[in-house]
Amino acid sequence: MALFDDEYAANPHPALAELRQAGPVHRVTSAAGIPFWMVTRWDEARQVLTDPSLSKRQPVDQLPAELRAALATQMLLRDPPDHTRLRRLVSAAFTPRRTQALRPRIEQITDRLLDELATVSEPDLIDRFAVPLPLEVICELLGIPGGERRPFHAWSNVIIGGSGGPADMVAAMSAIVAYFRDLLARKRAQPSDDLLGALLAVVDDGDRLSDDEVVGMALLLLVAGHETTANLIGNAVHLICRQPDQRERVLKDPGLLPAVVEEVLRMASPSATSTYRVTTRPITLGATTIPAGEQVLISLLAVNRDPRRFTDPETFDPARGDGGHLAFGHGIHFCLGAPLARVEAQIALTRLFGRHPEIQLAVRPEELRWRTGLLMHGLEALPVRLRTET
Ligand code: HEM
Repeated sequence: MALFDDEYAANPHPALAELRQAGPVHRVTSAAGIPFWMVTRWDEARQVLTDPSLSKRQPVDQLPAELRAALATQMLLRDPPDHTRLRRLVSAAFTPRRTQALRPRIEQITDRLLDELATVSEPDLIDRFAVPLPLEVICELLGIPGGERRPFHAWSNVIIGGSGGPADMVAAMSAIVAYFRDLLARKRAQPSDDLLGALLAVVDDGDRLSDDEVVGMALLLLVAGHETTANLIGNAVHLICRQPDQRERVLKDPGLLPAVVEEVLRMASPSATSTYRVTTRPITLGATTIPAGEQVLISLLAVNRDPRRFTDPETFDPARGDGGHLAFGHGIHFCLGAPLARVEAQIALTRLFGRHPEIQLAVRPEELRWRTGLLMHGLEALPVRLRTET
C-alpha cells in the first residue's frame, strides 16, 4: 500500500481505515524503505504502550559525538530504570504549577503575534502564528534570553520546515546543543528561576541531573513540544473554520474550547504516530506474532478513530464524552508537556477567534498542502482571510 505519499498526507484516513478494518497490526515500509510494524487499533495500541518488553532504546552511534551524548540521555529513548529516574527528576522541575505560571507570558506572546498577523492580508497562519507561538513559549519556559532566540527560528525551519536534508538537521541539532552548553555554563554562574535553572538545581534523594542530561532534556523539550503544538493549533483552526456550526458555538461560548481541543487531538492527532519501539521478545497482537528485534509504531491517527472504541468516530463532536484518545501517548512515556500544549492551544484559539471571529480559509480545502512523512500530521501552510470582504 502506498502509505506516506502526498495523497496519503492530504487524507490518510481512508488508507488507515482499510488497514484498521483488516487487522490490528500490519507490516509496512517507510518512504525510506525501512520495514516496521504499524498498530491501527486502540486496544492493541494500549497493549503495546504498556508492555515493558517493548524497548525505546535506539542506536545513536551513527550520530556525531557532540549530539550522541545529548541524545543518549534523553528519556524518550530510555527504558526503566533510567527512564524512571530521568522522568522523576524532570517532573520535579517541570510541574503543572510552572505551566500555569506561564499563562500571562503565553497570552502576551499570542497577542504580539496576532498584532503582527493583522498587518498582513491573507497571512499564512502556520508560518506567522502556529509555528512561532510554541517556539517562543518553549524559549520562555527554558529561559532563553529574548535577544538570543533568533537562531532558534532558523534551526526550527530546518528541523520542522524540512528546508534541507538529514545532514542539515543534524547540523541544526548540533548547533542547538552547543548553544545550550554555553547557556548552561552561564546559568550555573548565575542561578535563574526558569526551567533550565530548575533542572540544574533539582536534587532528588541526593541524585541530580548531569550537564549532558540537562542539555538532552532541553533539546527533547524543544523538539517534542514545537512541531506537535504547531500542528495542534493549525489543525484546530482548519477544523473549526470548515465547520460553521462549531465556530458559532465556540464564539458564543469560549468555555467550550477545552473540549474542542480534545476533539481536535482525537480527530486530527498532531503526532500522527508514536515514536518507535523495538520488540525484545516475540509479541502477539490479535492473530499476528511480531518476532523479537522488530520496530513497532502506533498510528495514533488510526487508533483515535477506532470504531471499537469511539462511537461514530468520523464525527467531530466535542461533547462526545467517550474520551480516551491516545494523542499524547499512554503509559510511562505519556507526554510530559500535555498540560502546556493544552494551555497554549486554548489561549491561541480563544485570542484568535475572539479577535477575528470572521476568520476563514483563503484557499479551497483541496488546495491545502499537508506535511508529508510518517510522524507528523499538520499543514504546511494555512492561508486565511481575517475578515469577510465587504
Ligand atoms: C512524549 C505528543 C506537546 C514534551 C510524547 C508522546 C506523544 C506526544 C504521543 C509519547 C511518544 C511515545 O510514547 O512514543 C505530543 C503532542 C503535543 C505535545 C500531540 C502537542 C499537541 C509537548 C510539549 C512538550 C512535550 C509542549 C514540552 C514542552 C514531551 C516529552 C515526551 C513527550 C518530554 C517524552 C516523555 C517520556 O519519554 O517520558 N508527546 N506532545 N510534548 N512529549 Fe509531547
